[in-house]
Amino acid sequence: MLDHDRVIQRIASVERRVDAIQAALDERGLNTAEAIEELTHLAEEQWVPRNGARVVARAWVDPAFRMRLLADGRTAVAELGLTMPKHHRHLVVLENTPKVQNVICCTQCSCTAFTIIGLPPDWYKDLEYRARVVRESRTVLKEMGLDLPQEVEVRVWDTTADTRYMVLPVRPPETTDWPEEKLVDIVTRDGMIGVARI
Ligand SMILES: [Fe+2]
Repeated sequence: MLDHDRVIQRIASVERRVDAIQAALDERGLNTAEAIEELTHLAEEQWVPRNGARVVARAWVDPAFRMRLLADGRTAVAELGLTMPKHHRHLVVLENTPKVQNVICCTQCSCTAFTIIGLPPDWYKDLEYRARVVRESRTVLKEMGLDLPQEVEVRVWDTTADTRYMVLPVRPPETTDWPEEKLVDIVTRDGMIGVARI
């Protein structure tokens, strides 16, 4: 059995490991370039925050939809033609109120409901955000430009392999007579992560 340091010494560089994976895939006739292109296309064209923005706008204008969304997110977003990977078994929608600010993170890595709110931004994957948002959430939010009054309770939710979250922001009071399509335009990714208010 190798001890820890010796194992570390024996681990190849990232480049060498990528090359090895590439060679193994090539050997089996798997076209990685095509797969990567397809993934990039999905990420750029389909896994976009606008999906979540549509969900939020619908919830703001349709109370019955909002109830269904809060009860079972995964089933409700399907009503808008949105799907989630099989392993995202639950979409839990966290409703903000004037007194409660929900914030999501993944302390382990970078999990999000990416087909709904888009791929996570770099800071979301950063160890500093992941560690600090749990311990000193109010300070982290303030540093990110969201200075919440003391009476607003901050709730931090840690994503797991099978449970994904999205935040349902508070609808701005000045938008009461706006049509749904116009509301879609003001919902941001950061608002659905919970580090910003709309
Ligand atoms: Fe993760």
